[in-house]
Amino acid sequence: MGTVAAVTNEEIYENLAGLPVFSPVMKRLGKLQADPNSTHRDFAELIRTDVGLTVALLKLANSAYFGLRRAVGTVEQAVSLLGRQKMTEVVITASFARVIPSEIPGYGIRAEEFWRHNVATAVIATALAAHVGREAPDIFTAALLHDCGKLLIGPMLEARLDAAGAPQGEASYCVERDLLGMDHGLVGAVLARKWRLPYATRWATRWHHDPTSAPWFTDPGLVGIVHIAAAVAHQRGYGETDDPGDCLYIPGVAEGLGIGAADIEEVCAACSETIESLVGAYQAPA
Ligand SMILES: [Fe+2]
Ligand SMILES: [Fe+2]
Repeated sequence: MGTVAAVTNEEIYENLAGLPVFSPVMKRLGKLQADPNSTHRDFAELIRTDVGLTVALLKLANSAYFGLRRAVGTVEQAVSLLGRQKMTEVVITASFARVIPSEIPGYGIRAEEFWRHNVATAVIATALAAHVGREAPDIFTAALLHDCGKLLIGPMLEARLDAAGAPQGEASYCVERDLLGMDHGLVGAVLARKWRLPYATRWATRWHHDPTSAPWFTDPGLVGIVHIAAAVAHQRGYGETDDPGDCLYIPGVAEGLGIGAADIEEVCAACSETIESLVGAYQAPA
C-alpha cells in the first residue's frame, strides 16, 4: 500500500455539506414529539409538506412490518393508527431511503443491497430486543441507520483506495482506520447528529463494531443488540459481503445479553416475512 493522508476535519465538513438533506421535517418532528399538546393533525400537516415523504410513508406504513390491520390511504389515518413512536420510525425509514446513492462510493455496495442489509438489521434487532425482554423504543431506527457513516466516509475512502490500493482480507472498518484514521462508526455518529436522529441512533452507529467500548450512558445493551443483529443479517444473506468483519459478532456480548444461538434462530425464522415486506417497500430516490 502507498502512503495516504489521514482525514482532516475540513474534509469531513466538506463531504458532510455535499450530502443530501436527510429530511426537511426532522427538526419540527422532534419538537412535535416533545410537545405533549401536539395532535395527530399537527403531525399529518407537517408530513404533508413533503410530497415525496408522504408517498414513501404511505407505502411503508402499509408494509407488514408496521402491522396495520387495514390499508391506509391518508397521512392522517397513518398517524392515528401508528401512533407517535411508529410514525417517527416510518418518517426516518422513508427519509433514509431517499438519501442512499445508487452505489456507495468506496464500498461498491448497490443501494438495494445496502437497504436490504439495514432493514434486516433493524427488524432483527427489534425482534431480538423484544425476545430478551429489553425496553428499547428507538432500536429500530438505531439499527436501520447503523451503517449510515458509509455514506459520508465512502468518497474519502474511495480516494485513498485509489492512491493506496485495496488491502485484501481485512475488515472494512480496520481498513478505514488504517487509511483514514477513523471508521464509518465514528463519522456515522457525526452524521446522525447532523440529521437530528435520536440519541440511540448516534450511539449504535458509533459503537456497532466496538460494542464493548461503548460508554455506560449510551445504553450498551442496545448497542450490543445492534452489533449482533448486523452480523446475523449478513450471515443470513441480508447484505452480500466478502468483508471478513461483517459476519462476526463478539460471543461475550451475546452471552451478556442472554442471547444464544437458539434465540437467534427463532427470531430470524419469525422475521423473514417482515424483512421482505420492508425490502419491497424501497423506492430509489427520484
Ligand atoms: Fe458497520
Ligand atoms: Fe452493517
